[in-house]
Amino acid sequence: MQILFYHPDFDSSLWVRSLEQAIPGATVRIWKPGDNATADFALVWHPPREMLAGRDNLKAVIALGAGVDSVLNQLKQDPDFIPAHVPLYRLEDAGMGKQMQEFAVSQVLRWFRRFDDYQDLQREGRWEPLEEYQTSEFTVGILGAGVLSKCVAESLLPWSFPVRTWSRQVKDWPGVHSFAGKASLSDFLSETRVLINLLPHTPQTEGMIDQQLLACLPQGAFLLNLGRGAHVVEDDLLAAMESGQITRATLDVVREEPLPASNPLWRHPHVTITPHIAASTRLEDAVIYLAKLMNALEQGEIPPGQVDKVRGY
Ligand code: NAP
Ligand code: GLV
Repeated sequence: MQILFYHPDFDSSLWVRSLEQAIPGATVRIWKPGDNATADFALVWHPPREMLAGRDNLKAVIALGAGVDSVLNQLKQDPDFIPAHVPLYRLEDAGMGKQMQEFAVSQVLRWFRRFDDYQDLQREGRWEPLEEYQTSEFTVGILGAGVLSKCVAESLLPWSFPVRTWSRQVKDWPGVHSFAGKASLSDFLSETRVLINLLPHTPQTEGMIDQQLLACLPQGAFLLNLGRGAHVVEDDLLAAMESGQITRATLDVVREEPLPASNPLWRHPHVTITPHIAASTRLEDAVIYLAKLMNALEQGEIPPGQVDKVRGY
């Protein structure tokens, strides 16, 4: 098995060694400009055009992450970016589910137990018990009901928060209220106290967290963006925070990454910024996942994780 590897930020040599250990007989090479030698699989993150275009013999291109928006954006502008018949796969969970659970549970509990409010009071030297929130009224609504949303939903249920999801197709998950389709969006939002975004970035979801959507939430709602920065209209979010419609926001992803120093989100007292670290591709989990995926593809199977290039996720 010949594997090409390209990631702009990873220690690629380490990945090559781990992949070769995990897949006996595989040869893995770091792609460099001018490498046109044959390959069965290409493992990529933000790949350059010349790496994939014209590689008709690839059995699959595999994204080294969950989101494939950057690859599909390239493909939209340039239909030869990946040969049409070559399937595109992505990482499904591969260790990211647990990371998303840690992130989401810690944020929801932080808001539920009012740690930020107490920190504000501490700054003023005020010893003042605040009204307690009730779990039954602290509904968490997740935009998206895919692999990572399912992990997040399951991690919130044991805390007794009502959990609801919004997706295209209805889900039947124990204890979770599923809403599906555009027509149900305002009902989904109307009782969502904490909105968690875990949608993929597609032409349909671009900019959908805007003034109109935020206005459908109950007054004083919380926003946790774990999907992509492009989902949020940042000026609309700032306006909603100004009016009190949104009380606190935690943004792991933003429209322009790294967030420019001039962006007011950095300085907003009720915004927490993390640098796109909610769930990362970790070598140990990903290598096990990739070995299994490529072995299955070699056997002619169609394993989970194939991206629908037209649907966009
Ligand atoms: P996934 O399994 O593909 O799930 C996507 C979900 O979004 C599905 O439930 C899908 O609905 C729903 N959806 C897509 N388009 C929709 C639309 N127009 N209207 C309503 N629902 C729509 O994806 P995942 O693995 O959970 O990952 C989700 C996203 O998380 C990734 O795309 C990536 O952008 C982001 N992510 C961020 C980080 C980070 O560190 N911040 C890390 C990993 C991933 P159906 O189920 O009905 O098809
Ligand atoms: C990270 O954002 C990913 O999509 O894996």
